[in-house]
Amino acid sequence: MPTLLFLRWASRCRSRERRRAEYLREAAAHLPLQLGAVQLAPVAEMPKKHWNTDAERIEAHREFFARLIATRAGVSADGELAAAFRSTPRERFVGGPPWRILTRHGFVEAPRNDPAFLYQDVVVWLGADGLNNGEPSLHAMCIATLRPQKGDRIVHVGAGTGYYTTILAKLVGERGVVDAYEIEPGLVRRAAENLAELPQVRLHARSGAEAPLPACDVLYVSAGATAPLAVWLDALQAGGRLLFPLTPEDGAGGMLLITRTDGEVYAARFLFQAQFVGCMGARDEYEGERLEEAFRNRNWHKVKSLHRNDAPGESCWIAGRGWWLSTEAPPVMRPTGVDG
Ligand SMILES: C[S@@+](CC[C@H](N)C(=O)[O-])C[C@H]1O[C@@H](n2cnc3c(N)ncnc32)[C@H](O)[C@@H]1O
Repeated sequence: MPTLLFLRWASRCRSRERRRAEYLREAAAHLPLQLGAVQLAPVAEMPKKHWNTDAERIEAHREFFARLIATRAGVSADGELAAAFRSTPRERFVGGPPWRILTRHGFVEAPRNDPAFLYQDVVVWLGADGLNNGEPSLHAMCIATLRPQKGDRIVHVGAGTGYYTTILAKLVGERGVVDAYEIEPGLVRRAAENLAELPQVRLHARSGAEAPLPACDVLYVSAGATAPLAVWLDALQAGGRLLFPLTPEDGAGGMLLITRTDGEVYAARFLFQAQFVGCMGARDEYEGERLEEAFRNRNWHKVKSLHRNDAPGESCWIAGRGWWLSTEAPPVMRPTGVDG
């Protein structure tokens, strides 16, 4: 090829590649939920499988689901979180059919009792008024951010029928402990059955918004609160992480990650906006209304720290009773190796 033609051809290829990379970045940036900058992972080859039985077919759906959820959460489709989703049959946790999928505008019923319908990134009704099995990729992002390690102690508030408690339990392994709290008696009964084979889980049929709570490395709340409760913050070991939905009276709030440092001020940041059912005993109407105003009028991306028991300063994003969120980073951070 003559040099000039070759140079033109090479330049066209480069700009095609640039356009493609720009397109992918653009497309990824419009995904509804994300954690910071999007890294586009190479597409993992799915082993091509044929199935002879129904059980094998469902296994293939679960395999696809695990890869989908892990990839949406920005973690490896071959990692431990994906493995936990792969080995946990969702149909066992959502109760008997007919299965109802929750959308922003109402429920859609699955047309038949085929677990394949459950292996999508959807919220599924738990069979109890207003209570649902949460969106898998949302929980996967939260759990990935909390980075539970083998042997960790976790407190899970709002266990429901135990689906995400099971995921957490698999990540901490049998050397770890998961203390799971649930207040709805019907769900507690189902959780007790579903969690019976996991010796590392202790199920408590009571509120997880009340003392005493055991000291823990990770405290994960699956219901919306209007404040970071003192009982949750006090349970955190040094370097411990609390993740909970800080939600207003009405509309969406945000998943707030709080990391205990060795100072008085904790690291804090919102991961993304979220809407959850209320956490009983962790809601205050006045604080809920103030949160509504804050989420409407202030930039939640700016929150960087949590103060307790001191007067709010100029950097205050919102102040509650005995706590306030600041847009200033905490003054002293002990290096814990944990993303705070
Ligand atoms: C949105 S549901 C999520 C259930 C479960 N995490 C799932 O996704 O399958 C929230 C759960 O929190 C429970 N809950 C609310 N307040 C609670 C509290 N103070 N202590 C323990 N559980 C609570 C509710 O009964 C409900 O089961």
